[in-house]
Parts: sequence; C-alpha cells; structure tokens
Amino acid sequence: MVANSEWRQALCDVPRELFIPELIWVEDEQVDGYVAVCRSENPRRWGELVAADDAVVTQVDDGRTVPGSVGRSPSSAGSKPSIVADMLSALDVHPGHAVLEIGTGTGWNAALLSERVGETGRVVSVEIDANLAVAARTALHRADYQVPVITVDGVAGYPPGAPYDRILSTAAVRHDVPGAWVTPNAARRADRNALGNLVSQRHSATAAGRRRQHRDRLVRWKSGIHEAADATRPQLGKQ
Ligand SMILES: C[S@@+](CC[C@H](N)C(=O)[O-])C[C@H]1O[C@@H](n2cnc3c(N)ncnc32)[C@H](O)[C@@H]1O
Repeated sequence: MVANSEWRQALCDVPRELFIPELIWVEDEQVDGYVAVCRSENPRRWGELVAADDAVVTQVDDGRTVPGSVGRSPSSAGSKPSIVADMLSALDVHPGHAVLEIGTGTGWNAALLSERVGETGRVVSVEIDANLAVAARTALHRADYQVPVITVDGVAGYPPGAPYDRILSTAAVRHDVPGAWVTPNAARRADRNALGNLVSQRHSATAAGRRRQHRDRLVRWKSGIHEAADATRPQLGKQ
C-alpha cells in the first residue's frame, strides 16, 4: 500500500470493517456472476473478504438482486484499500481543508477524509443511491463522524457546500471529468491561483460488459486550467 505517514495513521484509526455492510457480494465463476455472503451466516468468509486488499462489492444491479439470486453487475463497492491509500495520498489533503467526496459508498473514505481534515476542516459527501446513502449515514454516525451525506447526482458537484479545496470522486465517470468539478464557484475555490487536486476514477466496459476496468485520474487545476494524468487500475463504481 502506497500511503504517506498521515494516511497510514488514518487507515489504522478508521477500520474498514466498521463501514462494510452485513451483506456483501463476491464474484463466482461457476455461476458467472456475484453471490451473496452474509456476515451472520458466514462470518469467516465475510471477514476474509473484508480484510483482503481488494474491493468489496456491497451492492449489485443497483440493489435489485436479492441474496439467493445471482448478481450480474456490481453497482457499489468499498474500494480496494491500497487504491484508497493511493487516491488519498494523491489528493494531498491537509487539516483545515474543505473536501467534496463524490460517491459515498460505504462511507469509509468519508471517515478517513474527516479524520485527516480535523475539526478545522469539513467533508461533504454525495451519493446517488438513496439506500446506500442511508447505510453510509448510519455507519458514519455509529463511528462518530459528522459528515453530511447528501443524496444527489454528483455530476454537477455540490455547489451548496462550495468552495472546496479538494474533490475526490470514487464514482466512475464515463468519459471526461465533468466540467462542474473544475468550474469556479460551482465546485471549487474561486481563487484562480489556488492549486487544487481532484482525484477521480474512470472506467471502460470489458468485452463481457460486466467486469469493469477503472482508471484513476488525477486532475490538478491552476488558474482555471486543468491537466489530467491517468493510470490504469481495477476498480468499481456506477456509470
Ligand atoms: C466505488 S463506490 C464508493 C466507494 C466509497 N468511497 C467507499 O469508501 O466505500 C462508488 C459509489 O459512487 C456512487 N455513484 C455513482 N455515480 C454517482 C454519481 N453520479 N453521483 C454520486 N454518487 C455516485 C455509487 O452509487 C457508489 O456507491
């Protein structure tokens, strides 16, 4: 895991398992899809999956598939811890910063960010799926983090909480980074000399159209210009 010392501490202080739901999904080649693993029924398997440095699928088919049926497409996941560490390090976030997270998912990332920005900073997180947002709010509250989770499509950023020093998206974007994420006044600090970081993921469908390949994208902005650097990574997210 590539994490600077600040993040290493936060990753230890905020256990991932507090944010992973009872019911998770795992890919099963025999059924060519995802099968449910419930913590109460199979605590050992659940624990192994959550402890591994891998994404944990927390929702399939936008929540339409129930345990006992085969899930076809992952629609939310707790990101792979080493990628979380990479993204958070790339974000270069400091105490006192205002951070927008797009794609709350389990809420783990939001908790890590909250830990990092401290009492002088603030984190707001947006999640498009109402059920996932409820679960993340519950997990954050239980773990004692005061992060507002807003149920909204984050493609337009979240202007009511602007300005932000940093924006992190774990929601996949199909093509380019949405303009609103780098538009003055809509999503970030209006200070045109400020250097900001935005880290997001991008993915493309595989031939099967189900298993997705994601790319991390780091965008640095300065004086209204943004530059992107891509690195191929396996990840999950909603389209
Ligand atoms: C990889 S998961 C999030 C991982 C998360 N940060 C964590 O710590 O668990 C991506 C999330 O983005 C959400 N999402 C997808 N598109 C979105 C959008 N346009 N706006 C807000 N959330 C979105 C998905 O519902 C999913 O929960």
